[in-house]
Amino acid sequence: MKLFSSVHDVTDIKQLVSSALALKASPYVYGDLGKNKTLGLVFMNPSLRTRLSTQKAALNLGMNVMVMNMDKEGWALETQDGVIMNGTTVEHIREAAAVMGEYCDILGLRSFPKLQDRDEDYNEEFFNKFVKFCGVPVVSLESATRHPLQSLADLITITETNPVPIADRANGKVPKVVLAWAPHIKPLPQAVPNSFAEWMCRAQAEGMLDFTIAQPEGFELEESFTPGAKISHNLDEAIADADYVYVKNWSSYKEYGKLLDFPEGWMMNNEKLKLTKNAKVMHCLPVRRDLELSSEILDGPNSLVIHEAGNRLWSAQAVLKAMLEEL
Ligand code: CP
Repeated sequence: MKLFSSVHDVTDIKQLVSSALALKASPYVYGDLGKNKTLGLVFMNPSLRTRLSTQKAALNLGMNVMVMNMDKEGWALETQDGVIMNGTTVEHIREAAAVMGEYCDILGLRSFPKLQDRDEDYNEEFFNKFVKFCGVPVVSLESATRHPLQSLADLITITETNPVPIADRANGKVPKVVLAWAPHIKPLPQAVPNSFAEWMCRAQAEGMLDFTIAQPEGFELEESFTPGAKISHNLDEAIADADYVYVKNWSSYKEYGKLLDFPEGWMMNNEKLKLTKNAKVMHCLPVRRDLELSSEILDGPNSLVIHEAGNRLWSAQAVLKAMLEEL
């Protein structure tokens, strides 16, 4: 694998999940695979889980790791071509990415959207320029429109906690997974829900699960991320009989970058949980308690959020292993 930026970069998602679960069972089996290889992690934005899990994954594979907090410690980057750099930017991405490629065998990049210009964000201009100019394999640590390491960890989590009895699986019974929009006080990117939807739609197409998205009107995701998903504007109806509810806020794609008014009743709590099939509740974290998701769920037996965050390690390790095997 030379690039991990979306589910489309993965030939076989079941094999990648199996690889991650095998690494979870035996983390150090490939401890020499990354010997004398260097991973560079470049952050344009903050991170807890992605930073630590990807570092740990690389160390488990015997790699050296360098972390660059570009937003705080790097030169101000210019990304546009053809400009005279007589303003605040100091270094062009052409040189910066190419230099990092000289020092690293694999690079990871986190680059959030600005949520100002939808075309610029959805064309992944920053991420794609970085990939083009660095000249080495790149793993997305969350880009403007996707967070594939998170989504892979989510699929790993669903696979290993699948409540459907083995005998019923042989008859085609699969767990029901619902992506449920949640309230927030800020306009957040669509990267996590886009990516989760894309991975779940692929998993649904491969007979692994049944996928529904619930959001208020006006919060529909860009439709190329949701092929085959059932779409609902009614949370209570959507979560009926759900085995998993994946809670996440996102801002409107249509009214890009704006904080829209939203209706009451979209926060998951124990009352809503009664409508489900005793669903497990997931969230990528960080989460705002009692705004996005109730404390009673986060602190209760149905929460998978810590388990899910733990699986970020195996998601990253499986992807780095696949990349190292092709270096
Ligand atoms: N879920 C996730 O990517 O967390 P961080 O932003 O802390 O890395």
